[in-house]
Amino acid sequence: MSSEAQYSTTGILRYEWIFGYGFLGYGEPEVTRELIKRMDWPKGLKVLDVGCGLGGAAFLMAREHQARITGVDLTEEIVDLARKRQQEQGISGVDFIQGDIHALDFAPESFDVIWSRETLLHVPEKEKLFNKFYHWLAPGGHLSITDYARRQGRGSRLFEEYVEESGYPLPELSQYEDIVSGAGFSEVDVEDKSELLSRLLEDQLHKLEKNRQEFCQRFSTEDFEYLQRRWQLKLDCCRNGDMKWAWVLARKQASV
Ligand SMILES: C[S@@+](CC[C@H](N)C(=O)[O-])C[C@H]1O[C@@H](n2cnc3c(N)ncnc32)[C@H](O)[C@@H]1O
Repeated sequence: MSSEAQYSTTGILRYEWIFGYGFLGYGEPEVTRELIKRMDWPKGLKVLDVGCGLGGAAFLMAREHQARITGVDLTEEIVDLARKRQQEQGISGVDFIQGDIHALDFAPESFDVIWSRETLLHVPEKEKLFNKFYHWLAPGGHLSITDYARRQGRGSRLFEEYVEESGYPLPELSQYEDIVSGAGFSEVDVEDKSELLSRLLEDQLHKLEKNRQEFCQRFSTEDFEYLQRRWQLKLDCCRNGDMKWAWVLARKQASV
């Protein structure tokens, strides 16, 4: 499935229904707060949010930490909706750029934090992108990424079909450390959060099934069946160890 089909307007809103208002990633807003807690985060930090989606994390950072966020997202409908909500809610300190992160460039050392949630799963050449992240990050700055990964070796037929259908070029969990260290980052910490992902998927699937009628009225039975099938598949692949959820934290060494 292409990224465009996945993030069509109906696609976006049905995903948001299951993830929670403003978000297209897991465990929100608790996971955003938890990841922020893991860094030194003085007020006024400059953040690049790669694949910012509907802006939920950016708005939280702006509100709760007076951060200044540049949110980049490929999908026009998503950025339009994020800008509309920003205006409605009167949030300052967030600038959205609609574009492909591969095609963009920023001045060296422009950001204190480079942040990306459930987006790099769409990126085939991760090494190149991490080199750019290193260049854009200020000395002492933080990298905070959550992303899908895979177990070592080939997964089950079910998983390989899911990954192929979705078009996700997923690295093995253990390769993430090499990719990030290889770009020059230090203090690289790759945590396997797959158990948490299983629990979150279970909760979301339960919410979907419990609210079937309301969901089908708002969207359609086909949307319900699509999400139910995908969530069940992800849950099965997570439980059997094929699919991993990587939390990747790293720093660019401060200048000496
Ligand atoms: C699963 S969503 C996650 C959104 C957001 N990070 C969140 O957690 O709510 C992935 C997002 O990545 C965006 N995306 C995919 N490829 C991209 C690229 N090459 N450059 C910028 N954004 C991209 C998609 O448009 C989509 O909004």
